[in-house]
Parts: sequence; structure tokens; C-alpha cells
Amino acid sequence: MPTNIPVFKGKNRFLPGAEFLKNPFEFTIQRSQEIGDFYMMPFLNRKIYVTTNHEVVAHVLQKNQKNYRKSPAYRQLRLAVGTGLVTSEGEFWRQQRRLVQPAFYKTQLEDLFRGMSTVAGKYIAELKTKANAGAPLDMAKEMMEATARIVLKTLFSTEDTADINEMYRIMMDSQDYLVHRTVKPYLIPFTYINGMHRKFKRDIAWFDSYIFKLIEARRNDPNPPNDLLTMLLTSKDEDTGQAMSDRALRDEAVTLFAAGHETSATALSWALWLLSQHPDVVQRLRSEIDAVVGDKMPGFEDLRKLSYTMQVIQEVMRLYPPGFAIGRQPLAEDEILGVKIPTNGIVFISIAAMQRDPKYWERPNDFYPEHFNAEVEKERPKMAYMPFGAGPRMCIGNHFALMEMQLLLALLVREFDFELVAGHRVEPEPLITLKPKYGIMMRVQPTVKPAGALA
Ligand code: HEM
Repeated sequence: MPTNIPVFKGKNRFLPGAEFLKNPFEFTIQRSQEIGDFYMMPFLNRKIYVTTNHEVVAHVLQKNQKNYRKSPAYRQLRLAVGTGLVTSEGEFWRQQRRLVQPAFYKTQLEDLFRGMSTVAGKYIAELKTKANAGAPLDMAKEMMEATARIVLKTLFSTEDTADINEMYRIMMDSQDYLVHRTVKPYLIPFTYINGMHRKFKRDIAWFDSYIFKLIEARRNDPNPPNDLLTMLLTSKDEDTGQAMSDRALRDEAVTLFAAGHETSATALSWALWLLSQHPDVVQRLRSEIDAVVGDKMPGFEDLRKLSYTMQVIQEVMRLYPPGFAIGRQPLAEDEILGVKIPTNGIVFISIAAMQRDPKYWERPNDFYPEHFNAEVEKERPKMAYMPFGAGPRMCIGNHFALMEMQLLLALLVREFDFELVAGHRVEPEPLITLKPKYGIMMRVQPTVKPAGALA
């Protein structure tokens, strides 16, 4: 027997859901408390089912996941990343996931960590030079640069700054273009007239030719470096023995670049801002870093001992999850908790609202790393915290990201004092990731070391 579901219509009669569209992050955090954990919102010709209910989430992402594909918003991304892991579906996705997964096994992560650590060391030295120049820095931009350099090193073994800058620029411009198409679909025809689409195609063609050349050189390299590209190139399907085509390799490489840097960068930006408001947490972090790594470069084995650093990162991603929501559309009509979900309906899982649900968090809206004390964590249902998603389509780079964020945060906190520029506005902007809308402008000062410590 179908159950009634609360309906949210909003104030705008002509566009119900306008409020949601304006800021889905804040909207779902607020409304889920007011309306409930499963409600429907008419939106143009569709129905959106907003949820923070664990049963609904488990049904869509795990139990009945075969009946769901990603929501239409992901399809725009295909123009840039092709059919890589984030955008592919069905049997092709399953096969690609099997081929890419070994590149992220724990044994490989140790090798990737070496490349990560080289780049992080160089980046920190350059940041010192910039900091010594004295002008405030936008740490959101800085974190994007640091993580883009790390992912390019671990993916392609490249540290060539001209290439990196061009790839980075293309990623940023393409993302702006795709967000523009998603948010204002009625303006798409103009992009074919005003040159926007042509520029986008030219940029993507540059990217393609760059990556295809890298693939060719790598196929002919007798001593290939142990990076993600080599792992993808040599990965074979266990049953069929088949490897990836060049096109599939290109799509997976661009996907890993795109999915693998902005997410970690935004989490780190939020971390620096939150820490600038909580000097007590900085103090505790520094004591841990001092005890575990002292003045040397953190090693792979040190990471698991940096447990408070990990708690801080987890708490940052609880309040500001970089992927703040997951959308799914059923392939065949479904029924969840007695509610019929039509094939053009969208189930919108708000990770942001789930992770601030007062049922599971002692201080839902505060920055409180104690939420992740081992004892407290044991008591909480697993679904209450899912910054990397859940089920078979869970983030493939979660361990990579955690290791990268621990390394960078430990170095940043040990080497610098960060202070928010007075009056600078900090506000989340939910686009593809949850970015700080105006960046994070900070005064950055190298920490004063006691005499005799390493530079
Ligand atoms: C703080 C960092 C990160 C966060 C919060 C994050 C979050 C997520 C989330 C929520 C999903 C699931 C999306 C869905 O189900 O619709 C996802 C998928 C994915 N992520 Fe991440 N991610 C992070 C870092 C990374 C990194 C470093 C990489 C790669 C180097 C990566 C690669 C991917 C890929 C390829 C998928 C698609 C997996 C599939 O569908 O099989 N992510 N990520």
C-alpha cells in the first residue's frame, strides 16, 4: 500500500524547488530537520525525493543499486571526462571498475605516496617563499594547485610546470563551462554562437592529444615509472585477459585528474579556515605532529600514527563534505518505504544533511573533532557518515585522498601560521564540489622554529 510522503512546494509557484536550486547545501540541511528524512519536491517536469533516511540510502546505493543510474547532472560531465568511472553505467562501468581498482590497492598506495611526498615537499618550500613576500594568499587556490600537482605526478609522473599549468587551466575553464550548461540549460544554444563551445572543444582537443601522446610514449617505454598511468595500461581483466583501449585509458586518466584534486583541495581549504577559528585544535595537532614526525618529512608508516590529524580531517568533511550530495534515477519504477519512485524521479541523497543530523552528532553544527574519537565512533550507525559515498560506486580514491590530506595538513600546520584576513567573507558554494565561494584569503607566516631545528 503506497504511503504518503511529505511534499515541499516552496514559495515560488512557477518554479517549485527554486529555493533548492539556489543552494541545495543549506536547503537540505535546514529542510530535512523541518520536514523529515524523506520528502518530495516537484521540480519542473520531475519529482525530486530528498532523503537522509538510512534505509532509503542503503536501498538506492546498495540493495537495489542495479536499478539506479546517476542523475542527469552527471551527463554534462561526459563532454569533458568521456565515459570514465564517474560517468559510466552498467556492464561497462563494472568492467572498468575491475580494471582500475588494483591501481588503488593498499600495496600500490605506498608507491604513490613517494611521488606525493616529493611534490608536497617542493610545494611547501615554494609556499614559504610566497609567504615571506608578505601579501595575503587565497589558500583555496593554493590547495587546488598543490593537489593538482600531486595528482599529475602520481598519474603521469609529470612535474613539468608548463604542462601542469595548461592542464589545470583547461580543467578550471571546462568546469565553469559545464556548470554554466547545467545551471542555465536554456542558454546552451548561445554557447554555440558566442565561441564558448568552440573554446571548450579546442581545450579538450589539446588535452586529448597530450594524453594520447603520453600513452603512446608509455607503451614504448622499456622502464615505465610506477605511476597510475602505467597501472592502468598494464591492468587486464581477470576473466578475459583484455586491457583498456586508448580511448578508455584517456577517459579514466582525465576522470582521475578531475575527481582527484578538487575534492581534496576543497576539504583542505575548509580545514585551514576552521583551524584558523580553533587555535586549541591547532595546538593539539602540532603536539601530535611533533611527537610522531618531529622535523622530518612524514613517512607512509607515520600516517596511521597521526590519528588526531585524521580526526580533524574527518570532522572537516563532516561539516563541509566536498561531494555534498549524490543523485540517482531509477531505471524501472521502484517503491521505497511504500513510496512509488517513477522513472523520471530523482532520489537526492544529501550527505551534508545526513552528517549534521542531531540524532547522531553531539554537536551537529560545531567543529568538534572529538566526534571521531574511536569510542564515540563505535556507537554511530555507519551510514551517518559517508563523505566518500556508499555501495559499489563508492569513491575509488578514498584512501589516496585521506593519505594526501593527512600529509599536506600535517606539513601546513607544522610549517605555517594561518590567519583569516579581517572581514573576508567565507561562504560555501555548492557547485560540482562544495567550494568556498570567495576563496579563503589568509595571512600566512612561516612558524618560528627553535634554534637548531631543521629548516
Ligand atoms: C576528499 C576527497 C574526495 C571526496 C570527498 C570524494 C567523494 C566521492 C564521492 C561522494 C563519490 C561517489 C559519487 C556517487 O556515488 O555518485 C566519489 C566517486 C569517485 N571518486 Fe572520489 N572523492 C575524493 C577524492 C578522490 C580521489 C583522490 C580520486 C582519484 C584519484 C577520486 C576518484 C573517484 C572516482 C573515479 C569515483 C567514481 C567511482 C565509481 O563510480 O566507480 N576521488 N568520490
